[in-house]
Amino acid sequence: MTEKTREFMHSDIVRKDMAQLRLEPNLKGYEGLRETFKWADADKLVEWFPGGKINSAYNVIDRHALGERKDKIALIYDDGEGDAQKYTFKQLYEETNRFANVLGRLGVKRQDRVFVFLQRTLEQYVSFLGAIKAGAIASPMFPAFGPDAIKDRLLDSGAVAIVTDSELVKRVYTVKDQLPDLKHIIVAGDANADAGEIDYRAEMASASDRFEAVPMDPEEFQFMLYTSGTTGKPKGVVHAHKGIVQQTLSTRWVLDVHEEDIFWCTADLGWVTGVVYGCLGPWSCGATQVGLGGRFDPERWYRSIQDHRISIWYTAPTAVRMLMAKGDDLPAKHDLTCLRALYSVGEPLNPEGVRWALEVFDNKPFHDTWWQTETGSILITNFPEMPIKPGSMGKALPGIYAAVVDEDGNELPQGEEGSLVIRPGWPSMMRQIWKNEPKFNEYLRDGWYYTGDTAKIDEDGYFWYVGRADDVIKTSGERVGPFEVESALIEHEAIVEAGVIGKPDQLRGSIIKAFIVLTPGYKESDELKKDIQKFVKSRLAGHAYPREIDFVETLPKTRSGKIMRRLLRAKELGLPTGDTSTLEG
Ligand code: PRX
Repeated sequence: MTEKTREFMHSDIVRKDMAQLRLEPNLKGYEGLRETFKWADADKLVEWFPGGKINSAYNVIDRHALGERKDKIALIYDDGEGDAQKYTFKQLYEETNRFANVLGRLGVKRQDRVFVFLQRTLEQYVSFLGAIKAGAIASPMFPAFGPDAIKDRLLDSGAVAIVTDSELVKRVYTVKDQLPDLKHIIVAGDANADAGEIDYRAEMASASDRFEAVPMDPEEFQFMLYTSGTTGKPKGVVHAHKGIVQQTLSTRWVLDVHEEDIFWCTADLGWVTGVVYGCLGPWSCGATQVGLGGRFDPERWYRSIQDHRISIWYTAPTAVRMLMAKGDDLPAKHDLTCLRALYSVGEPLNPEGVRWALEVFDNKPFHDTWWQTETGSILITNFPEMPIKPGSMGKALPGIYAAVVDEDGNELPQGEEGSLVIRPGWPSMMRQIWKNEPKFNEYLRDGWYYTGDTAKIDEDGYFWYVGRADDVIKTSGERVGPFEVESALIEHEAIVEAGVIGKPDQLRGSIIKAFIVLTPGYKESDELKKDIQKFVKSRLAGHAYPREIDFVETLPKTRSGKIMRRLLRAKELGLPTGDTSTLEG
C-alpha cells in the first residue's frame, strides 16, 4: 500500500490531487456552473436537422461516421471467450443503415414499437440503433426474460416487430398467440422461413448501406423500457429524442469521457444503464466502447480491462462486492494501470467498495452515481473534480434541482430524512408511461417529481441514500416489483396466496423472499420450494425468483384485502410493526 493510499484509508473523505489526475476533468468549476448553466447550452453538444429536428441515433453514430471519426474504433466486441472484433463508426453506420432499411422494407412505421431481444452481440446494438434511426421506438429486452415477462411487454406496447435469435425465439413462440400486433419476428441466426421468421442476415445482406436518419421532433420517442413499481405489471417508461442532449452531457461531465478513452459499461442493453451509458452517451461523445458477451466472471473481467486497455469502467455495487469477495490476488495478477476512472450505479455503494478500489486499482476510487430508468440519465453523482464521501451519492448535476421533502412537499433542513424529489423538466426525463397517464401522474406532486427513494442531504450538499419509500425490490441491482413475483407465484397450482418482500443481503443488496399460503392438500417440503423457484424463474426471469420461501397459514391483509408487505418485512426483520389499524380483523 502506498503512503497516499494509507492516508485515504484512514480518512472519511477521499480527496483528489488534481495534479495527479491523468486527464483534466471535463467538468471544472461545479459551483460556478450551478449558477450559470442553462440547458440550452447543452443543445450545442449534438447536431440538429433543419427546423429543430433531431435523431438520437444520428448523433450516436452517423455524425461521427460522416466526420473525422469515421475510421475510429467505435466498438470492441468481445464474445467473452477472448475473441474480440473491432468495428469503426463507419461500419456501425453502414450496419445500422442496413437495419433501418430492413425495417422500412417490412413496412415498420414511424413510432412503431420494435423490440430487441438478443444476447449481447453486434446485432443487439445494430438493431437497437437502426430502429431509432428509422423513427421507430426501440425497446431492448433483457435476454433472461421468460414468457410472462415477454408477453407483458409486447402486449402492453403493441409491438409490431421483435429481433431475436434462434434460441430466444422459442420463448416468444410460447406467448405469440396472445400478441395480435406482433407482425414480424426477425431472427439473427438460423431463421425458420416456414414459420414465417425473417432471416436477419439474409435481409441485411441485401439491404442498402445508405439511409438518411429520419428527422424527428425532439419530443418524439427514441426508446422505451419496462420497469417495475410497487403495484401492477411493469410499466413502459418512454424517452424522447431530446434526451440525447443530457445523455451526451452527463457522459462528458460525469463519466468524463475523453477522445482517447476506452469505455466499458458492464450493464446489458436490456437495462437503462446499458442503453444510456453502454450505447448512447459514450458513442455520442465519440468514444471507443467495449462490449463484453458472456456471463459475469471475475477473471474474465480483469482480463478484459487489461487486454482492451479499458480506462473508464461503469459497473454496479453487486459486481463490486462479488469482485471483493474473490480477493485481491486476482486483480494483482493483471495489469490494470490502464484504468483511470471508476463508476457505479443501481444501489447503494458500500464505503468499503470505494476504499477497496483505492487499494486494488492503484488509488482509483469508485464514484457512485444515482439515477433511474425514468430519469433517463445520471442526476446525482460524485464528480471527478470533487472529493468523494464514501457512501454518498454525491451532488446534483448543474441544471438539476434535487431536494429532500416532507409529506407535503416542503424542503427539509439538512440532515433530515425525507422523499428524494427533483424539479421536473430536465431533457432526459421520461415523457410518459406508455398509455397510462394516471401512473405517470403518480410521480408528480406539489411541483416535484417523486423518485420513490428516501434520502438526506449533509452540510456540504452531498446526498445520502436512505431507502425506498415503496415496496420495489433491488436485487443484484435489478429492479423487481413484488406484484410481478406474486402474480407468477399464484399461477403455481400449489399456491393460493403469496406476499413478496426484499430481504437485506450482504452480497446482493436484497434478495427476494416469498411468504406462501399453500393450496389445501399440498404439504410444505424442500422439493416443493425448489419446484416453485424453478417455476418463477422459467416464467419471469432468472433473477426474479424468491431465493427464500416461508410457508405460512395466512398473510396479513388490509380490510380491503391488500397484502401488507410492510408487516411481512417488519416481522422478518424484527422491526416495529407500526400502524396496524387498517389490518383485517
Ligand atoms: O432506489 C434507487 C436505486 O435504483 C433505483 C432505480 O432503479 P432503475 O430504474 O432500475 O435504475 C437503475 C440504474 C439507473 C433508484 O430509485 N439506485 C440507483 N442508483 C443508486 C440507487 N440507490 C442507491 N444509490 C445509488 N447510487
